[in-house]
Amino acid sequence: MSDVYDILEALRWHLDVGCDEAVADEPTDWTRLAARAAPARPPAAPGAAPARPARDAESRRPPGRSEAPNRPEVPEAGAPLGASEAGASARARARAAASLEELEAAVRAFDGCPLKATAMNTVFADGNPKARIMLVGEAPGEDEDRQGKPFVGASGRLLDRMLAGIGLDRSTVYITNILPWRPPGNRNPTAAEIAACLPFMERHVELVGPGIIVPLGGTSAKTLLNRTTGITRMRGQWFDYTPESGGRTVPVLPMLHPAYLLRNPAAKREAWRDLLVLRERLQTL
Ligand code: URA
Repeated sequence: MSDVYDILEALRWHLDVGCDEAVADEPTDWTRLAARAAPARPPAAPGAAPARPARDAESRRPPGRSEAPNRPEVPEAGAPLGASEAGASARARARAAASLEELEAAVRAFDGCPLKATAMNTVFADGNPKARIMLVGEAPGEDEDRQGKPFVGASGRLLDRMLAGIGLDRSTVYITNILPWRPPGNRNPTAAEIAACLPFMERHVELVGPGIIVPLGGTSAKTLLNRTTGITRMRGQWFDYTPESGGRTVPVLPMLHPAYLLRNPAAKREAWRDLLVLRERLQTL
C-alpha cells in the first residue's frame, strides 16, 4: 500500500514541477545535458551572494526530502549561472548583437536561464520586424514550445481574430515574448528567470524600433514598464517605454492577455475597447 502511495506522490511531484506530458519514448536526463551546455563558472568571491536563491533550490527538491541543515550551497562544476552572472552575460551578448539574426543566435546560445533546459524549442519571434506594432506576450506555452513560434495555440488563434478586428495580421505586427522558453507546466515565470532574459528583450526593442509596444498581460506590462500595477488598471492606458540604454521612448498600450480572455469571455468587451484605442493611435503614426 505504501508503495502505491509513494508512486502517487512521485507522480504528483512530477506534475507539480511541470512534467505533464511525454515528449519521447526514452527518458532524457535534462539536468546532465544542461550541465554540459553551461559554461564553467568562476569560483564565488568571498562573501558573494549565494549562487541561487534558496527558494529556487527548495522548489527543485522532491517533497519529503529536506536538505542537510546548515549545509552551505556549493555550486557544482558546470551548474547554471547565478542570477547576477546570468544578467551580466545576457547584457553582454545582447549588446553585441547588431541585427535581429545576431540577437536570435545570442538568445539560442544563452545558457543563463534554467528554463532552456526543460523547453523543447527557443521561441524568438514571429510576424514582420518592420511592422509599427510590437506585441509582447509572457512566455511560450505548450504549442509554442513544440512549434518554436509565439502565439500559435488557442490564445494565438484568439489574438489573430482580435488583430483581424482592427485590420491587422501577422504581416502588420511583430510578436515576441518576455521569455523565449516555456516555463514547465505553464507555471508563472520567476523574477530571476525574467531578469536573466530581460537584456535580450530590451535589445529586441532597440533593434525592431517599433512605433508602439503592446504588452499582452500583466507579466509583460509590469516587466516592460517596471511597475507593479496590475494589468486591469494599466490596460487601455498609454505609458512610455524608455530603454535602459537611454534610447528613443516608445508609447506602450498594455492589453489583457488572450489566455485571460479565453478564461473570462466577458472581459473581451474591454479588450475590444483597447483595440479601438490602438487603431486610433495607428492612424496618427
Ligand atoms: N502566451 C504567451 O504569453 N505567449 C505565447 O507565445 C503563447 C501564449
